[in-house]
Amino acid sequence: MLVYFYCALSSVVEHHLDVMRAVGSIPTARTMILLYVLVLGVSLIISILFIIFFIAEIVAKFNTDAPFVPAPKEIDEKIIETLKLGNSSIFYDLGCGNARILKKVADKYPGIKAIGVEKSLVPYLLAKFRTRKNRNVEIKMEDIFETDVTNATHIFVYLYPKALEKLLPILEKKVSPGTRMVSCDFEDKNRKADEIIILNNTASRGKRLIIYTF
Ligand SMILES: C[S@@+](CC[C@H](N)C(=O)[O-])C[C@H]1O[C@@H](n2cnc3c(N)ncnc32)[C@H](O)[C@@H]1O
Repeated sequence: MLVYFYCALSSVVEHHLDVMRAVGSIPTARTMILLYVLVLGVSLIISILFIIFFIAEIVAKFNTDAPFVPAPKEIDEKIIETLKLGNSSIFYDLGCGNARILKKVADKYPGIKAIGVEKSLVPYLLAKFRTRKNRNVEIKMEDIFETDVTNATHIFVYLYPKALEKLLPILEKKVSPGTRMVSCDFEDKNRKADEIIILNNTASRGKRLIIYTF
């Protein structure tokens, strides 16, 4: 990988050197050495980042209850509308991924508190970065089954049925009566939903929204 990045960056540098030579500007030997040391350093940093992200992804595969697959963008507004948030709501996205929905909610309702819970490193870092300017957003690197949701008024989840079957009884004990939860696509077979909104039956993702009230 290091060799790959080194060769790729070197070819970019070579191209620029050719252009410089063509216009008569010959770089000194010292400049050339510095340039190639710089290319080697940058290649090394990129390779290390790739390895860290690759390992983090493998760990996440075994460590989380649903993969990082964001809900389709096209249904964001429908999700937000279905949540029925108010200006003083406390909203949780449990397994918030890259916090795309969380940010939209926080931008639309500046008065609310929006909390994203994410266990996997790469989406967690993306979520932190995406919401860095939103003062009403908090991103926690925690497990959705253990995180404190006692103050939640609204919850969104996009998780597999098995995770929902484990999560709902836990939420039932933790959240206040009246807390509204919207689940994208999947439901807890052991619990009757309040309502199921069909969005697009032929889509592979983002087919429906399942609503529960605790
Ligand atoms: C299908 S993605 C949904 C992302 C986001 N909510 C959306 O709809 O765009 C599920 C996310 O939940 C996270 N996740 C799965 N199990 C988790 C757990 N036990 N604790 C915290 N996060 C978890 C995954 O890492 C992944 O980012």
